[in-house]
Amino acid sequence: MSGDVTDHADVKKMVDEIMAGLGRIDVLFNNAGILVEGTVEEVSEEDWDRIMAVNVKGVFLMSKEVIPVMLKQGGGSIVNNASCSGLVGDRAAIAYNTSKGAVVLMTKCLALDYAGKNIRVNCVCPGEIETPMFLQEVASRGTTVEAYRKEISDYHPIGRLGRPSEVANTVAFLASDDASFITGAAVSVDGGYTCQ
Ligand SMILES: NC(=O)c1ccc[n+]([C@@H]2O[C@H](COP(=O)([O-])OP(=O)(O)OC[C@H]3O[C@@H](n4cnc5c(N)ncnc54)[C@H](O)[C@@H]3O)[C@@H](O)[C@H]2O)c1
Repeated sequence: MSGDVTDHADVKKMVDEIMAGLGRIDVLFNNAGILVEGTVEEVSEEDWDRIMAVNVKGVFLMSKEVIPVMLKQGGGSIVNNASCSGLVGDRAAIAYNTSKGAVVLMTKCLALDYAGKNIRVNCVCPGEIETPMFLQEVASRGTTVEAYRKEISDYHPIGRLGRPSEVANTVAFLASDDASFITGAAVSVDGGYTCQ
């Protein structure tokens, strides 16, 4: 099943379909996100609204519909995909970094509101991971994958980009009972990017 996380009716439909098929929701991973690059002069109002709708409102709407389900069943675990860009500033990234900073703080607010109800809420803050979003950055710079990989690797003290599986493993841990005393955390999966 699929849906648009910016559309409340779609979000409700997705949750209803999951409940009809599975009867419960133990884990919500808010992964949907888009990238808009540029300075305040370069980013259009439409692009600003679009990125805030997907990256911020999407997490809000999904949480709004799934938390009542988790409350009814006695608990659950939410993991949001924020970014290292939600922890530090980057040049020409005003919209993306602002949206991801909001996800980090939404995570902490949700964690506080539901800590006593057996719902844990955490987020991961990945560095540069080699996904289609990385290829979008390559294309917008008119460079090559190899050249951009080399440039970005230099920003990560570990000396390379991250792999999707390295983020997925962290998400799986945070979602699981192994992380039973962790809530409100923003876990960096960034090869040391935010240490600098
Ligand atoms: N790739 C990176 O370097 C990196 C780093 C830090 C954080 N992130 C975050 O990781 C998450 C996944 O990104 P990715 O790198 O896999 O990029 P991606 O472009 O491959 O994946 C983004 C996904 O979001 C979905 N999506 C976009 N708008 C949507 C909407 N309105 N409703 C439902 N789904 C929608 C897309 O269909 C796509 O599957 C994003 O939140 C991104 O901000 C990525």
